[in-house]
Amino acid sequence: MTTLTDQVAVAEEDVTGTVAPVLEVTDLTIRYGGVEKVHPTSFTIGRRERVAIVGESGSGKSSIANALGGFIPPGVGEVSAATMSLSGRSLPAEKAQRIPARRQGISMIFQDAMSSLDPIWSVGSQLAAVLPKSRYGSRKDRVAAAEARLEQVGIVEPRRVMSSVPGQLSGGMRQRVMMAIALASEPELLIADEPTSALDASLAVSVMELMTGLTIENGASLVFITHDIALARRFADKVLVMQAGSVVETIAAADLDHATHPYTRGLLECMPTLSSAQLERLPTLDTVMREETAA
Ligand SMILES: Nc1ncnc2c1ncn2[C@@H]1O[C@H](COP(=O)(O)OP(=O)(O)O)[C@@H](O)[C@H]1O
Ligand SMILES: [Mg+2]
Repeated sequence: MTTLTDQVAVAEEDVTGTVAPVLEVTDLTIRYGGVEKVHPTSFTIGRRERVAIVGESGSGKSSIANALGGFIPPGVGEVSAATMSLSGRSLPAEKAQRIPARRQGISMIFQDAMSSLDPIWSVGSQLAAVLPKSRYGSRKDRVAAAEARLEQVGIVEPRRVMSSVPGQLSGGMRQRVMMAIALASEPELLIADEPTSALDASLAVSVMELMTGLTIENGASLVFITHDIALARRFADKVLVMQAGSVVETIAAADLDHATHPYTRGLLECMPTLSSAQLERLPTLDTVMREETAA
């Protein structure tokens, strides 16, 4: 069995020992109705790197994900960037596909699997639609590849699931199907916006294990958004901490204990642990921030 620690150092390093970037973003700025909600933000994501975006509600996490995924069309908001490129290619301006949510090279998944899947198409036809045509030309090849994709997410009866529509499956199965479809188009980058927020803690951990394992197997990079810094620490290589529309700290997950920004420290101190669970009251971010500021 591979342990989590084994899975952690897999971001692909080039000969110079630096992670080759898949995604490069410089001065990404997002406005809604003329109001700047994401201030100029720059970051890179390495090949096979897993990056978590954490921060409080309204800090701009989903806006960044949606801008990358192509889900902020003009009329909804204005996205501008000096650079926004995937493997050196500028991200195309054309609108992303809604279901399954994707643009060339990038797939997106959301908290609610139903909103990422077409309710009336069978799972098999949704999978077949995103498999690269160049590789799976014949119907027979596509059926075999679709079955293999479902087996990869731990589905033991792929034939039955392929002929089902999403509504006929349990919530857990739909999550798996959603991941299979998101990866079937062989994206370079998978973006997951709060994929586990609707799940209880133990299910959240198993979904994260499945998702990080799959992105590694598929050679993709992963950006996942979470408000749970414990999940970020456990499953990411790198963490971007957002507050009020800005990335206030970028830090290796392994170095989180040495985070310097008071906001990151606040998030860490609010993390329930076995010892803090014995406190009568968990500290809230407000009280921690006040103490940090007063100190
Ligand atoms: N479609 C939209 N129209 C107007 N304002 C929006 C829209 N989407 C997000 N915002 C605003 O942008 C800010 C960041 O939101 P969001 O990216 O959803 O944050 P997060 O995902 O961190 O909770 C918030 O103030 C939110 O109200
Ligand atoms: Mg959000």
